[in-house]
Amino acid sequence: MGFLEPKKTCKPGVFLLTMASFSDNDMDNLVEPERTEPWMEKRAVYPGFFDPITNGHVDIILRGLRVFEKIVVAVLKNPKKEALFSTKDRVAMIQEIFAHQPDIEVKVFDGLLVDFVRRHKAKIVIRGLRAVSDFEYEFQMALMNRQLDPEIETLYMMPSVNYSFLNSSVVKEVFSLGGSVKGLVPEIVEKKLREKLKPGRLSLGK
Ligand code: PNS
Repeated sequence: MGFLEPKKTCKPGVFLLTMASFSDNDMDNLVEPERTEPWMEKRAVYPGFFDPITNGHVDIILRGLRVFEKIVVAVLKNPKKEALFSTKDRVAMIQEIFAHQPDIEVKVFDGLLVDFVRRHKAKIVIRGLRAVSDFEYEFQMALMNRQLDPEIETLYMMPSVNYSFLNSSVVKEVFSLGGSVKGLVPEIVEKKLREKLKPGRLSLGK
């Protein structure tokens, strides 16, 4: 598939946002290094809506496996958010893609992400950061999650430049208008898109 191998020996370009705010005399916001080496964390949670999963997501998951022993892919179930694929379908596609990767677990979550992360005994959330345009949303989410649970750290990883323009919405739109999404999504996703959407017609609703 041309994806990178999830080797665990090296640490790729990882950008850890540690956004404490300091006043002149106030060092209270410094993070206490109370645990062992941060890189010793064994598992991380990779959350998203994944409607559907793209090769950009796959790239981040495999990069995550170079750093962590286990990645829990957390698929948001949100009845209020319109989706092309049901939660069950979104999960099934990810499970099929990583069927031969025992270090990747796929779970559904609703409610707060930090509650899910705690329940799964993780401390790290991984998110992909494609471009500056992602930053504001991600910044808000990382800081809100930190507000909710200061023990949980958000780690941002850059996807391969090949996928830096990619997201699920663009894939759905291009496919529904008859464009090719080959190489941008795993084969199972292309197959499911074919079943769901008639190329040449924009019908992204349920
Ligand atoms: O694929 P997405 O849409 O970028 O994923 C966003 C997601 C699922 C990570 C985010 O919406 C989320 O964590 N939702 C759960 C609700 C929550 O915890 N909200 C507080 C943090 S802003």
